[in-house]
Amino acid sequence: MQFSDVHEVVQERYGTIAVTRSGCCGPATGAAECCGEGNATLLYDANLLDGLPADVTGLSLGCGDPVTIAGLAAGERVLDLGSGGGIDCFLAARQVGPDGYVIGVDMTPAMLATANANKERMGVHNVEFRQGQIEMLPVDDASVDVVMSNCVINLAPDKLAVFREAYRVLRTGGRIAVSDIVTEGEFSDELRADLARWAECVTGAIDEGTYTALMAAAGFVEIAVTDKQDADAIVAVQPGMPRVFSARMTAVKR
Ligand SMILES: C[S@@+](CC[C@H](N)C(=O)[O-])C[C@H]1O[C@@H](n2cnc3c(N)ncnc32)[C@H](O)[C@@H]1O
Repeated sequence: MQFSDVHEVVQERYGTIAVTRSGCCGPATGAAECCGEGNATLLYDANLLDGLPADVTGLSLGCGDPVTIAGLAAGERVLDLGSGGGIDCFLAARQVGPDGYVIGVDMTPAMLATANANKERMGVHNVEFRQGQIEMLPVDDASVDVVMSNCVINLAPDKLAVFREAYRVLRTGGRIAVSDIVTEGEFSDELRADLARWAECVTGAIDEGTYTALMAAAGFVEIAVTDKQDADAIVAVQPGMPRVFSARMTAVKR
């Protein structure tokens, strides 16, 4: 499988979603939590969502709340990998305040256009959206305090490159807080080749132990899986698939 093929299929899917705002999980799921349309109320505390426009909450495509587990403080610089419509960036922007700054990186032009339109409408000044691949971040070395990501790294074909890049851009002592889909066991090569399911946050997911080992290989320490829930109700599980989970992972750069 070519990395560029994965990027192309994923970008096409999220470009369409940004334009149509329809749910991105397959019709067989029957549920719309991960990658679903308007799933914000399922993922975040209601008080966090207060005052966010429906255009933002309606394009919440994550599988958890990485902002809360990041434990942000005023003045911090935050990077969101795969920022989509911007929900986590806008939530983080409130928490870091005017002295903090949030960068969202996404490769899909239509997502960036939507996020920027949301930013303008909300009058937010401490958020910036940049186009780029999370495997090759358009962000300076050691320039952020926190990296977060919500249901995106499972979509990346080169996950080690993503973690290496996250490590590179973090300052020493900085941290990463991720919500993502992981598995117990690996998908078969045949299932992995199903790029439509990959783009739905299913067959690109990897075993939890492999995931944390890649974080360690990139240099992260104090790696913890802080929460893990069965994702059967979120993604359409087929015979022959490993168990699929929505999980929260944290780690530190020392
Ligand atoms: C499932 S959506 C999640 C969006 C957002 N994090 C949220 O919680 O609503 C995945 C997003 O990641 C972006 N994405 C996927 N793979 C990427 C990659 N390799 N580099 C940059 N962006 C990527 C897609 O364009 C899409 O906007």
